[in-house]
Amino acid sequence: MAFDIDMIKGVYTKMTDRVDEARKIVGKPLTLSEKILYSHLWDGKTDQAFTRGKDYVDFAPDRVACQDATAQMALLQFMQAGKPKVAVPTTVHCDHLIQAKDGAAADLKHANQTSSEVFNFLESVSNKYGIGFWKPGAGIIHQVVLENYAFPGGMMIGTDSHTVNAGGLGMVAIGVGGADAVDVMAGMAWELKFPKLIGVKLTGTLSGWTAPKDVILKVAEILTVKGGTGAIVEYFGPGATSMSCTGKGTICNMGAEIGATTSTFGYDDSMERYLRSTDRADVADAANAIRPYLTADDEVYANPEAYFDQVIEINLSELGPLLNGPFTPDLSTEVGSAMTEKATANEWPLQVEWGLIGSCTNSSYEDLSRASSIAQQALDKGLKIKADLGINPGSEQVRYTAERDGILGIFEKLDAKIFTNACGPCIGQWARYSDPKNAPKNSIVHSFNRNFAKRADGNPNTHAFVASPELTAAIAIAGRLDFNPLTDKLINENGEEVMFEEPTGWELPPKGFEVKDNGYLAPREDGSSVVVSVADDSERLQLLEPFTPLGDSITGAKLLIKAFGKCTTDHISMAGPWLRFRGHLDNIANNTLIGAVNAFGKKTNFVKNQLTGEYEGVPDTARAYKAAGIKSIVVGDHNYGEGSSREHAAMQPRHLGVAAVIVKSFARIHETNLKKQGMLGLTFDNEADYDLIQEDDTFNFTDLNEFAPDKQLHVEVVHKDGTKDVLALNHTYNQAQIEWYNEGSALNLIKKQNA
Ligand code: F3S
Repeated sequence: MAFDIDMIKGVYTKMTDRVDEARKIVGKPLTLSEKILYSHLWDGKTDQAFTRGKDYVDFAPDRVACQDATAQMALLQFMQAGKPKVAVPTTVHCDHLIQAKDGAAADLKHANQTSSEVFNFLESVSNKYGIGFWKPGAGIIHQVVLENYAFPGGMMIGTDSHTVNAGGLGMVAIGVGGADAVDVMAGMAWELKFPKLIGVKLTGTLSGWTAPKDVILKVAEILTVKGGTGAIVEYFGPGATSMSCTGKGTICNMGAEIGATTSTFGYDDSMERYLRSTDRADVADAANAIRPYLTADDEVYANPEAYFDQVIEINLSELGPLLNGPFTPDLSTEVGSAMTEKATANEWPLQVEWGLIGSCTNSSYEDLSRASSIAQQALDKGLKIKADLGINPGSEQVRYTAERDGILGIFEKLDAKIFTNACGPCIGQWARYSDPKNAPKNSIVHSFNRNFAKRADGNPNTHAFVASPELTAAIAIAGRLDFNPLTDKLINENGEEVMFEEPTGWELPPKGFEVKDNGYLAPREDGSSVVVSVADDSERLQLLEPFTPLGDSITGAKLLIKAFGKCTTDHISMAGPWLRFRGHLDNIANNTLIGAVNAFGKKTNFVKNQLTGEYEGVPDTARAYKAAGIKSIVVGDHNYGEGSSREHAAMQPRHLGVAAVIVKSFARIHETNLKKQGMLGLTFDNEADYDLIQEDDTFNFTDLNEFAPDKQLHVEVVHKDGTKDVLALNHTYNQAQIEWYNEGSALNLIKKQNA
């Protein structure tokens, strides 16, 4: 099952009717984004036009994709839902847990040894529940999705923020947390605030050294890392249609770096070429049959200001190659002297140590082919490469084809290391140093998307700059950050001055794609007999037990921590070394709230255990209360739980016996995650009541038996001296969410409904 053409045809049949109806309801021509959103409503139809940036809407995505790091908890939860199979086509991709060190063969072998337990688990769960499984080495999730599953006009979600890459093939594809993915896999609706719309009009054409990467690097400079928040970015104009499909993927991919919900392009000839080249002529034919529905109405692009919330115009003919960084992807610098000045002023090392080409952002056949044209010139002109060069092909199909066509051979002649078809250095899985924390200051250039401190190699002193693959190759060869390939000469081994010519390359392989084993394992038709085994003593995996309902009487609960100031999902459940426990709830619970600052004493991971009077770490104190049969309470400040959508930040406190999180305000996704795990997520009616909470407080809920939508709850807070305060608490639970609470979790409810 590479893809399901009948499913896609079904989507297209519904799309034509639904778009026509939506146009009447909205009362004006529609953007492509609106067409996809309105044709994927959970209820099928609507009698109201939604307000962008305001209304929460239920959607029915067509697909789900999960990567290995996030799939563990997503699948552990799905196993609890009591479903025999996933409700929508779903795939799992093993790409994050593979380190880059010695080259593809050795690194893949090492990953298969060190993470075999996790890979075997993901494979057997996939086999049991009808999920397509892509083995380690098969490729990076978003390239594999683009090559096999993405289709114009579709909607998908994925448990990775760069799921948005599939916008390059005209999808609305959105990154989510595992709990959201589980809802969709279990056949439930998926909720999203109806996004705002940003239109980006691309005029002119790319030429010379300018690549699709430079378009998004420019957009990042214009919009900054926050500018796309809550919005879909829709690209259009002659510059858009003149670009390759994988180039569009690059642009959509880095929409995550401007905070956009997603980005997309209208269906065009480049997408048709890509579909046919990747063995999906039937999808191209089906898309051609409804072509006007797979792009915005003509009036929209003719007068974009009337239909988008914001419009940006970029003339590709005037755009030059850019380098963005260090430490943030929106800091743009033009190649050459502008970089000399900035780097000198900021003390960025001008010498470049490594060039890295790959990641889900830029690892297509076209990317490798254009970068290899520069590498070939270096060989032809007698240039010796000054920096190290590493390549991560995006998929086995790209790797095999690029090897067949001599592209990888060119890089190898320049002494490049070909790493596994996996994330590798893009996610810190790069064994570059034995002691990264104390490694030296240095500069690297890569074609990835993120360049935050420590992201690639764990070294806080590595200055990472983001560029197109061809510019990355040129800078690695020159060994200087401020090398301008348009004007600068290099000295070759014979002492002669030489210059690069413009990069050239193939949009798609002239001899077609080829692959021997693409790394895909189809699930069994009937997986009911597949046994998923997890060892009792496993460090990394633990089967989940259903949470017990907290009930309608919570009394005698103890304050666990009153968090002071910012408390993000990273403060609640840290990443870094804890990543290896993402599939083991009890082990990862040992990091619960260890980053949160205790309002009493202003220290982290240092709270009073009311049972002993001693100060201990937060997880230890929570475990002590739990062992004594006492529930605990977390109190927090504003925007509690901001950051990622990871469900661990709700599951861990729940696992440790926290019954309620009472805060001044919540980040919305975290609030929903608390509800999904059957906990109380409440806000002070009077924010100043936060100040009334004392270190030795005990909490008695007085009216939990009357828990109902739009009705306040009350808690009696008993202080150490015996005095009491009764606090009014607000909540946003609707009746269905109260059922989640009553059943112990949303999953328990799904399971009950399936019983
Ligand atoms: Fe992997 Fe980096 Fe993309 S971690 S999914 S290659 S952003």
